[in-house]
Amino acid sequence: MRAGCGRSYGFGMTDTTITTQATSPPSAAWLRIFALAYDPFIWLSEIAGLRRRRRALLRNACGRVVEIGAGTGLNAALYPDDIAELVLTEPDAAMRQRLGRRLQRHASGARIVDAPAERLPMADASVDTVVSTLVLCTVPDPESTLREIARVLRPDGQLLFIEHVRSSSRLLAALQDKLFQPWRRFAAGCACNRPTAELMRANGFAVAADDVVWRGMPAIVHPLIVGRASR
Ligand SMILES: C[S@@+](CC[C@H](N)C(=O)[O-])C[C@H]1O[C@@H](n2cnc3c(N)ncnc32)[C@H](O)[C@@H]1O
Repeated sequence: MRAGCGRSYGFGMTDTTITTQATSPPSAAWLRIFALAYDPFIWLSEIAGLRRRRRALLRNACGRVVEIGAGTGLNAALYPDDIAELVLTEPDAAMRQRLGRRLQRHASGARIVDAPAERLPMADASVDTVVSTLVLCTVPDPESTLREIARVLRPDGQLLFIEHVRSSSRLLAALQDKLFQPWRRFAAGCACNRPTAELMRANGFAVAADDVVWRGMPAIVHPLIVGRASR
């Protein structure tokens, strides 16, 4: 196993407000279009800093690593070479197809698993690092997801994340609430106003995160937290 699991990271602390909203699933047709359009849609933000943030975050991955909602695999090439195992979980078939193609191109040793983050096919306390980038906004049940992450993590394990969250600005939060439904339909189930750091804390995680801006994206998803959570 890679030395360095459990070291400190220097992320700051976040301050967000808890709200909840019900969601209904996106259509299968839209999920296919979303998977096709995902990389071009996010491209500007990748070159505007997101790729650099992914790389910096994933430097901290160690041991047995499970990524949830791996999507088209934008993180896949950024993991350190010396992690013990990499499992990429993704429940959406169209996303998984693109993920598979990307892994073939990079000749990666990672394994792809069809599973939602709410039901991970891993034993209790068997994972050193869970990675979630832009996923806790989209999972239909974030609390079950966080409980599941807590279940699979070893006691000294870590959740590494990049997530867009509810704004601490009242004006922007009000805009996120107003645009919640159209954005959710467009972005395949994404809740732009989810207070993810608060949900992590409410589910027993200690959170250390930096508040940054997701540049190159619409304002309602600008508030981004980047960091590490542990039990
Ligand atoms: C905005 S994309 C992020 C993709 C990738 N993680 C990234 O950083 O580019 C959200 C991803 O979450 C996945 N997703 C949706 N519901 C999920 C669930 N219940 N469990 C795990 N992943 C889910 C979607 O299929 C999609 O791949």
